[in-house]
Amino acid sequence: MIKVEHIYKYFNDNKIPVLNNINLEIKDSEIISIIGPSGSGKSTFLRILNHLISPDSGNVYYNGQLITDKNAQQIRTKMGMVFQHFELFAHKSVLDNIILAPVMHKFLTKQDAIAKAKYLLKMVGLEHKINAYPNTLSGGEKQRVAIARMLAMNPEVMLFDEPTSALDPEMVKDILNIIQDIAKLGKTIIIVTHEMNFAKSISNRILFMDYGNVIKFATPDEIFNQKDNDRINNFLDKVL
Ligand SMILES: Nc1ncnc2c1ncn2[C@@H]1O[C@H](COP(=O)(O)OP(=O)(O)OP(=O)(O)O)[C@@H](O)[C@H]1O
Ligand SMILES: [Mg+2]
Repeated sequence: MIKVEHIYKYFNDNKIPVLNNINLEIKDSEIISIIGPSGSGKSTFLRILNHLISPDSGNVYYNGQLITDKNAQQIRTKMGMVFQHFELFAHKSVLDNIILAPVMHKFLTKQDAIAKAKYLLKMVGLEHKINAYPNTLSGGEKQRVAIARMLAMNPEVMLFDEPTSALDPEMVKDILNIIQDIAKLGKTIIIVTHEMNFAKSISNRILFMDYGNVIKFATPDEIFNQKDNDRINNFLDKVL
């Protein structure tokens, strides 16, 4: 379980918080989508969950353990992340990108990590690219490698920050289908997305953020059909 308490985040000397007192809990195996306008703090919030950035005040607990500068690295081995712009290691092959973390953290032997990488590459349809370098791959292929790299650590929690928004339209569906398959594994998934139909179909709950505030954290039906909040209505009118 992830528990977030009184999270505030400011950038630079801004008087206005980018995250303004966020409090919530996410249960194991929940699938959560985060939606909301550009600049509302979605990416910042996701990065605070696994301590890629630290909050100015407030706490994040993972399975009851407070995440601190000291244990963040270790917690990140259980909380994988996929980014909008893939963030692959440019000077490493596809295989080396995938086996790096499991071998470095002694999660798998090199031999087992290679076997797992092959299995995962097959799963995402890229076994023929095992020795390729990132700059020779399309955006969709890079994102599939990034997803395989995350899965190689067998994380309990998977964070996705707009995994399809840098992709050509015809590749979006491939990646969403892969995420849909991953969702069947029963892990906790938190995904920032602008794909509203996907969010509606995949999520147990949807978190709507605006100006660093949680406006509503509720079921897809309550977010999309209840029509009881002007900010959500305005946003949905624009994007649907
Ligand atoms: N490293 C940073 N330094 C300064 N300001 C930042 C930094 N990161 C984010 N911000 C600001 O914080 C606010 C929230 O940014 P964030 O990236 O979390 O929004 P977002 O909801 O993910 O937006 P988008 O949908 O465009 O990705 C924005 O106003 C942004 O300019
Ligand atoms: Mg963002």
